[in-house]
Amino acid sequence: MIDIHTHVLPGVDDGSESMEMSLSMLALAAESGVDTLVTTPHCNIPDEIDNYLDAELEERWEELNAEKERAEIPIRLCHGMEIFATPELPELLREGRVWTLNGTDYFLMEFAFNEDPDFCFQILEDCVSEGFHPIIAHPERYFFLQDDPQIAFAWCTAGYGLQVNKGSLLGRFGHGPMHTAELLMEHGLVACVASDAHRPYQRSTYMGEIRRLLEGRYGEEYMRLLLEENPARILSGEELLGYEPISFE
Ligand SMILES: [Fe+2]
Repeated sequence: MIDIHTHVLPGVDDGSESMEMSLSMLALAAESGVDTLVTTPHCNIPDEIDNYLDAELEERWEELNAEKERAEIPIRLCHGMEIFATPELPELLREGRVWTLNGTDYFLMEFAFNEDPDFCFQILEDCVSEGFHPIIAHPERYFFLQDDPQIAFAWCTAGYGLQVNKGSLLGRFGHGPMHTAELLMEHGLVACVASDAHRPYQRSTYMGEIRRLLEGRYGEEYMRLLLEENPARILSGEELLGYEPISFE
């Protein structure tokens, strides 16, 4: 499996707090069958977290990669970020101040939970005009999308990738996100499922349960599309695959 959304890079956001914690998160991922994992620290959160790409961040990433090799954890690490959507996002991409997903045109982004949907549509279009392809983190957690899931249909048909959190489908974020995640699954709107892991124990990197849930409920083919095929396509910059999206109207 490939996990494209994790907060495993130590000491840069609200995810892993130490190298030791990061290594146990990576070991847990590997144990559950993850062979490739993208580190996606939060970036560009106003008044909270900058994390723009610089020598220090690169060094920190190299250090994690080296420690992972030393610990002989059989997992490949790739570059990425979870970039918070502000009006500056297209400019950050254009100027190369952020890590896209494994250096491709795909980038992982998140919105404020109560963002104005018009702003979302506009910023997504602006990023595409710059030549980048959005992968939208946990759409099922946004209140405006829970209220109007047709937004997800519009995003999917516009070619944006929707990344659902494993914890949402497992019910860890409550009824709203779980119900919306299930709706998106049933309507063929999900490109991939990722851990969005922050810790080794809760919101973890372990992907065993979600693999079983997806396979049991939606079948092996859909499960493989979400945990293997599309994540691999994202990391090699290929077009996403999917089922025919079903409108809510
Ligand atoms: Fe995240």
